[in-house]
Amino acid sequence: MSFACHLDKAAQNDEPTTIVVFGASGDLAKKKTFPALFHLYQNGLLPKRTKIFGYARTQMDHAEFHKRVVSHFKSDADKEKVSEFLAICKYVSGKYDVDDDFERLRAEIDAAEADENVNTLPDRVHVYYMALPPSVFVSVATHIKKNVYDESCVNRIIIEKPFGHDSESSKQLSQDIGALFEEKEVFRIDHYLGKEMVKNIMTLRFANVFYEAVWNRHYVSNIQITFKEPFGTEGRGGYFDEFGIIRDVMQNHLLQVLSIVAMNQPKTLDAEDIRDRKTEVLRRILPIQLEDTLLGQYVGTHDGSKPGYKDDDTVPKDSNTPTFAQCVMHVDNDRWRGVPWVIKAGKALDEAKMLIRIQFKDMPSALFPNLARNELVIQVSPKEAVYLKTIVKKPGLSTRLAMSELDLTYSKRYHDIKIPDAYATLILDVLNGDHSNFVRSDELEEAWRIFTPLLHKIEDESVVPFPYEYGSRGPKGVDEFTSERANYKRT
Ligand code: NDP
Ligand code: BG6
Repeated sequence: MSFACHLDKAAQNDEPTTIVVFGASGDLAKKKTFPALFHLYQNGLLPKRTKIFGYARTQMDHAEFHKRVVSHFKSDADKEKVSEFLAICKYVSGKYDVDDDFERLRAEIDAAEADENVNTLPDRVHVYYMALPPSVFVSVATHIKKNVYDESCVNRIIIEKPFGHDSESSKQLSQDIGALFEEKEVFRIDHYLGKEMVKNIMTLRFANVFYEAVWNRHYVSNIQITFKEPFGTEGRGGYFDEFGIIRDVMQNHLLQVLSIVAMNQPKTLDAEDIRDRKTEVLRRILPIQLEDTLLGQYVGTHDGSKPGYKDDDTVPKDSNTPTFAQCVMHVDNDRWRGVPWVIKAGKALDEAKMLIRIQFKDMPSALFPNLARNELVIQVSPKEAVYLKTIVKKPGLSTRLAMSELDLTYSKRYHDIKIPDAYATLILDVLNGDHSNFVRSDELEEAWRIFTPLLHKIEDESVVPFPYEYGSRGPKGVDEFTSERANYKRT
């Protein structure tokens, strides 16, 4: 293999490191950030002299903080490792807009570094993780820069989505953050970029001669990128109603995946070369039209066992926020011109699934008329898999044909390998200073350019989404939309 794997890189990286998790009392910190940090710790992937600080307004002692830190660890976590890990985790309570509080944090960091005798080393790394609502991003970033940022070491800031609400607000956020931190210090997390099968797309495409040969408009009929969740916004209705499914999932996760499937080969595996190629292809995507979009909002089940979106008390009764959307997109370049891309995302659907389905063109065979189409499916979750729908002779005495699969299901082929959580992978990338799997500001600008006109039109014209029942496949017409608008033929 010519490129380094994470383990190789982590083994080389042993700079004294301080990680501060802002919003340490919150949901993301508890469910994702601390479990990911522990995963790295127990696998020996955190630099040896790492200290972790949690910072939030909530008053709590270390015992309470530690209880929260471990609350989402796997039940079989090694107890000894857990207590070693907790010994490097400390909590500082403070407000998000008070200089004195940030100065106290800085003093704690300085003291911890002095204890380890690393306070004068220039290769120290400080990571500031913003597990916070976007309303306080800028205030916290400003106070970090003013009171905590250390010119004498490497500083990195991790920002969680949403990165703005539309083109204008995102530009403002980029400007505000850009005035405080250099782009090389900023890591915008889109956790889909840390998922195993998303990281695998480049390898599949650029390390296998046969995939790259057919990865274009001459062979591909249409591409679908689908995200389905079997649960509604339970408990998050208030947050969700401000954003809707397009901002929550499509503009970021699905578009990021699309850009990797669609991009041309980067010059090297360097982060900037990869991000150049992704941005380049995003620039060739035309803004999405309302006419090319199907919107839905889930309603309760007939038997009353599952609630509708608007049954949530935190959602306004007249909300038109879509919980389902399906769009046809076009990439206007020589590789993809004429190939429709259907991206679909929905909550409260019939199953949990995230996949990329590449359907090839009809086989113009004189020997076998009316063949079903080949498809390459990359399943991101729940079970990682790549399978190629392939026509074979029906085994046995029959001379008929059958659709079968060349099947690479990871749980069967790699049953002894545990696939790490996306957050563990991405935090490790930050520790290694690798931006490949993070969103650059120009990519972000393009992503909002593609979606903002549609979002504004939906809101300005109060477009009413079509209802669909909780647990169904989506609003009426969802399948016809794909067959009629994208020429998809069910195989
Ligand atoms: P929370 O609502 O749990 O907020 C995190 C912490 O921020 C809270 O514990 C609270 O800490 C503080 N906080 C909450 N509301 C406010 C407010 N209005 N003003 C100031 N401080 C506030 O958020 P999450 O942890 O769910 O999410 C954090 C970020 O991560 C968000 O940007 C979110 O969009 C993103 N994200 C979250 C995911 C998840 O699974 N939860 C998944 C992907 C992204 P205290 O009061 O103690 O200061
Ligand atoms: C988050 C969205 O970014 O991604 C959630 O805000 C969604 O609404 C989640 O449920 C899906 O992530 P995953 O990793 O569970 O597919």
